[in-house]
Amino acid sequence: MARLAATGSSAAVQRFMTPPSVNLTDRQFDRISRMVQDLSGIHLHAKKKTLVQTRLAKRLRVLGMAGFEEYLALVESPRGSRELGAMIDVLTTNKTSFFREETHFDFLRKTVVPGLTNTRIRFWIAACSSGQEAVSAAIVLREALAAPDARDLRILATDISSRVLEKASRGVYTENEMEGLDTARRAAWFSPLDVRDGVRRYRVKPQVANMIHYARLNLMERWPMKGPFDVIFCRNVMIYFERATQQRLIDRFWHYLGTGGYLFVGHSEGLSGITHRLKYVCPATYMKE
Ligand SMILES: C[S@@+](CC[C@H](N)C(=O)[O-])C[C@H]1O[C@@H](n2cnc3c(N)ncnc32)[C@H](O)[C@@H]1O
Repeated sequence: MARLAATGSSAAVQRFMTPPSVNLTDRQFDRISRMVQDLSGIHLHAKKKTLVQTRLAKRLRVLGMAGFEEYLALVESPRGSRELGAMIDVLTTNKTSFFREETHFDFLRKTVVPGLTNTRIRFWIAACSSGQEAVSAAIVLREALAAPDARDLRILATDISSRVLEKASRGVYTENEMEGLDTARRAAWFSPLDVRDGVRRYRVKPQVANMIHYARLNLMERWPMKGPFDVIFCRNVMIYFERATQQRLIDRFWHYLGTGGYLFVGHSEGLSGITHRLKYVCPATYMKE
């Protein structure tokens, strides 16, 4: 310690304080990947090892643990269920934005919404991340329906990560996150909130926010809702799953869609190689006949 103090280097202190056992071995990585896949369906291939190590090292610090063996002993034990949730939380990729893959929202506005003749309209945004996708769908519904308040509109938006759901429920987004929203939409559906650290924040207006119900739901587990849904969005999450998991998911979505209902998947996902009874409509868009 005296030698470290003499150098006065904070990097040296940091190295001294970081125990060597915080390294993640290949065997420990395999145990973590297996657990993550069993629980969430997310397949962590070997290239993700550094990412897993970096993200989980932060959990180790929070928990005051010396290394991954101690961490694994916790998450593999019955008392570790809470930490297991936190582990999934930090290992998920939550990239999203308003009107992401915009052609889907154009199709929604021009083709899907005009065909929704029932009073009751139900959307499910599966894997909604921090809410931008659900808010975009709600905006399209309000803009494209002649008398939205005369309809019974509900959007269920679910994700496995409690962290992103907390943000989604707040409905507050920074200027940077508002990318994808033109001036007219910003003015119509968001209220300026405040400026924090030089960045303006906006809140989703109640007409839109009140249409959305956020809930935690792991797509690998039982789905407590009944359906049927007019529209299901499940975009940019199936890429993290193996083919067999994708197949099971698509089979389950089919049962949750009403006749004439639409399933949207991410444009990089598609359903090629999956056996299904859905009709291909246009890229990444399918219908239950
Ligand atoms: C890359 S984001 C995609 C967000 C949004 N659908 C979009 O396209 O912009 C993937 C989301 O899937 C969620 N996710 C991963 N595995 C899941 C599972 N088994 N059940 C539910 N959500 C899951 C993650 O937490 C993350 O928020």
